[in-house]
Formats: sequence, C-alpha cells, structure tokens
Amino acid sequence: MTKRVAVIGAGPSGLAQLRAFQSAANNGEEVPEVVCYEAQSDWGGLWNYSWRTGVDEAGFPNHTSMYRYLWSNGPKEGLEFADYTFEEHFGKQIASYPPREVLFDYIQGRVKKAGVRDKIRFNNRVRDIRYDEGSGKFTVVSRDTEADRETSEDFDHVVVASGHFSTPNVPYYPGFENFNGRILHAHDFRDAREFSNQDILILGTSYSAEDIGSQCWKYGCKSVTVAHRTAPMGFDWPENWKEVPALERVNGKTAYFIDGSRTTVHAIILCTGYKHHFAFLPDDLRLKTANRLATADLYKGVVWNHNPKMFYLGMQDQWFTFNMFDAQAWWVRDCIMGKIGLPSKEAMIADVEERVAREDEGETDYDAIKYQGDYVQELIDETDYPSFDVDGACEAFYAWKKHKKEGIMTFRDNCYKSVMTGSMAPVHHTVWVSAMDDSMESYLEN
Ligand SMILES: Cc1cc2nc3c(=O)[nH]c(=O)nc-3n(C[C@H](O)[C@H](O)[C@H](O)COP(=O)(O)OP(=O)(O)OC[C@H]3O[C@@H](n4cnc5c(N)ncnc54)[C@H](O)[C@@H]3O)c2cc1C
Ligand SMILES: NC(=O)c1ccc[n+]([C@@H]2O[C@H](COP(=O)([O-])OP(=O)(O)OC[C@H]3O[C@@H](n4cnc5c(N)ncnc54)[C@H](OP(=O)(O)O)[C@@H]3O)[C@@H](O)[C@H]2O)c1
Repeated sequence: MTKRVAVIGAGPSGLAQLRAFQSAANNGEEVPEVVCYEAQSDWGGLWNYSWRTGVDEAGFPNHTSMYRYLWSNGPKEGLEFADYTFEEHFGKQIASYPPREVLFDYIQGRVKKAGVRDKIRFNNRVRDIRYDEGSGKFTVVSRDTEADRETSEDFDHVVVASGHFSTPNVPYYPGFENFNGRILHAHDFRDAREFSNQDILILGTSYSAEDIGSQCWKYGCKSVTVAHRTAPMGFDWPENWKEVPALERVNGKTAYFIDGSRTTVHAIILCTGYKHHFAFLPDDLRLKTANRLATADLYKGVVWNHNPKMFYLGMQDQWFTFNMFDAQAWWVRDCIMGKIGLPSKEAMIADVEERVAREDEGETDYDAIKYQGDYVQELIDETDYPSFDVDGACEAFYAWKKHKKEGIMTFRDNCYKSVMTGSMAPVHHTVWVSAMDDSMESYLEN
C-alpha cells in the first residue's frame, strides 16, 4: 500500500514539501501519495496578497498579513532556492530587494515548472486532525468552502505548513476603548496611503514596526512615534520620527508614555507580533512554542516529538526563509520515505534541549544568523537538496545588517552576490525611497 501524506498549507513551506516529493519522483523513486490542503483559492501563502481584512470569502479568519508596497526586508540572496535561481526564473539577474509581486512570481515559477498544482485542494480548510493509536492513521477533516461540504480522509503522515504570522497578538492598553481614532494590528494594515498626513503611533520594535513605519513615512504620514517595551530600534530615523518609552495609556487622541511624556495621534498600529495558532489541532498534536529559532518539541526543528509521524515546517523565527523551508521539506520527505531514521524519544527531546541552550548562548543578531545558517547546512548535508554556500548567504545577511545601520531608508539600494550563480545583482533603477510603483513591470525594467 502506498503511504498517504497530508500537507496543510500551500505557502512557501507547503510548496517546498510538494517540490521535494516531486524531485524524488523525478529521480525515479517511488513516492507517497501527497494531498495538500489549502484554505485559499490560490497558492503562495502570505505572498498571495488580499485586500480583505477580518474574514475571508468563506467567513474564516483572513490569512494574509501582506500589505501593498511591501518590498523584501532582507536581501533576496539570502532566500534564493538552490534548485531554481532568480536568473532561471527571470532570464536575468535582478536587484536585491524585490517587492511582493516579484517574489510571488518567483515562488510560483518553481512549482509551475515542477507541475505540482494538481496535488493541491484549493478552498479546502482543514478543520480537525485526530490520530488513532489503533490504526496508526491520522484522520483529516476539511471543509471545501466552495462546494460547502466536509470531507474526511485518513493519512499515514501529516505535515503542518500553515504558517505562524497570521494570528495577531493584540495587547490591551488602558483607554483603548475610548481612543478617538483607528487602532489596528499590522495583520490588518494594507495601504500606507491611508495614513498620509496623519500622526501615527506604532507599538513594537521588530520588523513590522520598522517596515510599516517606513512605509507610512514614505507615503506621506505627518509623523511616526514608536513606543518600545524593551529597547528602541536605534536607527538613524528621519526628523519627523521619534522613539519613546512604553505606552502607559491613551485618552481621547492623546497617548501617555511611562516616562510622563505624551503625544497626540490619529492612529495606533500594533506591530506586536503573531501567535503560533493551530485551531485545527487537538492538544496532543498541537505545537505550543515561542517565536524563536529553536522551537519547542520539534526534533531537528521539524519532527513532532510526541508523535513522530507528524511534522511541522517553517515554525521557527526566520532569518532564512525559502531555502530553509526547502532544507526542512527535503529532510521530512526522506524521513517519511524511510531514508532517514529517527532516534528514541529521549534522544529527540535531548536534541531540542541542546538547540535551545545553544540558541540562548548567542548574544547578537549575527550569532542568530549564523545559528540558523548552521541549522540549514545541517539539514541539507543529510539530504540531496542541492548544496549551496550557506556561509555566503550569512555574509549577505551580515552586510544587510550593516547597511541598515548606515541608513534605514537606503539599505534597500544595496546589491549582493548570488550564492547560487555567483553573479552580482544590478543596482535598481530607482532608489527605494523614491520608488512609489512596486509593480513587477516597473521592478524588472532594469
Ligand atoms: C508582513 C510579512 C512580511 C514578510 N516579508 C518577508 C520577506 O520580505 N522575506 C522573507 O523571506 N520572508 C518574509 N516574511 C516571512 C514569511 O513567514 C515567509 O516568507 C513565508 O510566507 C512563510 O511561509 P509558510 O508557508 O510557512 O507560511 P504562509 O506563507 O503563512 O502560508 C501558510 C499557508 O497555509 C494555509 N493554511 C493555514 N491554515 C490552513 C488550514 N487550516 N487549512 C488549509 N490551509 C491552511 C494558508 O492559507 C497559507 O496559504 C514575511 C512575513 C510577514 C508576516
Ligand atoms: N518588508 C518585510 O519583508 C516585512 C515587513 C513586516 C514583517 N515582516 C516579517 O514578519 C515577521 C513578524 O515580524 P513582527 O515584527 O510582526 O513580529 P515580531 O518579530 O515577533 O516582533 C513583535 C514585536 O512586538 C512587541 N510586542 C509584543 N507584545 C507587546 C506588547 N504587549 N506591548 C508592546 N510591544 C509588544 C515585541 O517587543 P519586545 O521586544 O519588547 O518583546 C516585538 O518588538 C518577521 O518574520 C518579519 O521578517 C517582514
């Protein structure tokens, strides 16, 4: 009997899993039957932009957190697929910080070439997964939201690739209920032009805070105030941008901070991160972890320690993305196909403990990049995923950190060398701060 594998989600992680199995089949290997469930009507995960906020067409929580004018926040040279380069896709080398539409096109190019679309059941939201000790199978219950019908099927393995930047972490501060303006989470942010001529307050100091603030600034907001709970971002911000201590409360349109200062704002954007949230999983299968590099309870960052027939992809905090998901997907494929064996439960738990301790030893972002680079290398060394210069990709990330320090509104004007093809990216025709058109047509004009 051929094994059956359910993949939950057709974002970059789920698509990596489909490509991994297709690659083995291409090499003449006998692969399991794979069914990928995707709640949306198209693939690409977060990169599949939607103007909708709140609920989707079917009334379920909207998945995407992407917004208009989003350009990659890290160099593309750090995320390039080893088996499908930017040059192969676009027929030429392109600049280093592509906008969303360009990256979406690139993600699609590889899976179109691989011909895996027919493995995906679109408009199918997985509602429940149970494991039966007797049969050794998982039962996956899904709702086809187009046909408005439920299906239930059994599988030998489940690979959860449903992402973890979709369920917003929404804190409460006193006075929010009386604020005379808009309060929204980054998940519901769509178009920076909404805030032109407005004074905005941002909570949080990570990537969403930095990038949404920069977008609003670029598209003409009046001022940006960023409140930090732990430490300021500390970049050399433009003059109408200030960093202040943590928010204490709001009253009317006035925000009060813990140092006694205050400011009047039109809108508050909560860039306060996301929750790992798996509404479709019971407790015994459900990952509960902080957003960190060494996730809880996942051997090698992918095997669910409490039932090693189940896997998770892409659950780490992310410096590396697309090629890390690939490294994981190839490894999971080989585990499912019996090419990689698993140790005892005790050894898997010890593996997680060791990873957590090693992550905790690191002090800087550079340590974190190297840590995740080493993890990617570890996985690809154990499979036939095309080897690439992971240390070279780390170098691109180190240079990126330096370029951000030099100029937070200019770092996207830099270019880096592809570690896959060795060619240098061209300088983009327009500096980021003046490039208002983020269409693929405009970006590829170089
Ligand atoms: C605003 C934002 C900007 C980002 N920018 C960058 C960037 O510039 N560069 C970069 O490398 N990374 C970026 N990321 C990181 C991002 O996490 C990855 O690029 C990537 O999208 C993760 O892929 P994934 O497949 O793991 O998850 P997702 O992209 O979230 O895809 C998960 C898929 O699972 C589906 N799904 C979820 N639940 C179910 C269910 N119950 N049933 C069926 N299907 C389901 C969803 O519909 C979705 O298609 C960004 C993230 C955010 C939030
Ligand atoms: N252009 C782009 O490519 C782009 C743009 C946006 C996001 N992203 C991606 O999206 C992912 C998520 O990034 P993120 O910034 O949304 O989440 P994140 O990295 O998890 O950061 C969450 C932030 O929220 C703060 N926070 C949490 N709870 C808070 C509270 N109660 N009050 C005040 N602050 C609070 C945290 O502060 P503490 O430090 O105090 O804990 C932290 O600064 C990342 O992978 C990022 O790369 C990419």
